[in-house]
Amino acid sequence: MEFSLKVNKKNYTVDVEAGTPLLWVLRDELQLMGTKYGCGVGQCGACTVHLDGEAQKSCQTMVELAEGVEITTIEGLSEKGDHPVQEAWKEIDVPQCGYCQGGQIMKASAFLAKNPSPNKDEIRMAMQTNICRCASYNRIEKAVAVAAE
Ligand code: FES
Repeated sequence: MEFSLKVNKKNYTVDVEAGTPLLWVLRDELQLMGTKYGCGVGQCGACTVHLDGEAQKSCQTMVELAEGVEITTIEGLSEKGDHPVQEAWKEIDVPQCGYCQGGQIMKASAFLAKNPSPNKDEIRMAMQTNICRCASYNRIEKAVAVAAE
């Protein structure tokens, strides 16, 4: 079945089964590999993208629900990897293995767009949706705070 998607400001038509998670459409059909598969059941956040600016887990978003929505992946967050959150991530040297970091950055950037001056508790609460197996949580929280400055 064909679906029309707008991803990172470009229009695409994909031919996949209804019910296919957006995660697999992004990775397998559009070769946007920055969106990661971690758990597939909505618990880790590695697959986080923006749907109309909201952080959403793409493993839990069926392709048909992504039609007519502005989809942004980590590849489209900024032109040169210079979104304030990405700059803060580099400044704090957040990643260890790096696998979850795209999802973390997508979550943090959507959060800061809504709450540009969060306190520590708000940052911790917001970022609880995203798991880091290297437990780089202190650096993640610090980078979100730096991005907010
Ligand atoms: Fe989607 Fe883990 S892969 S939340």
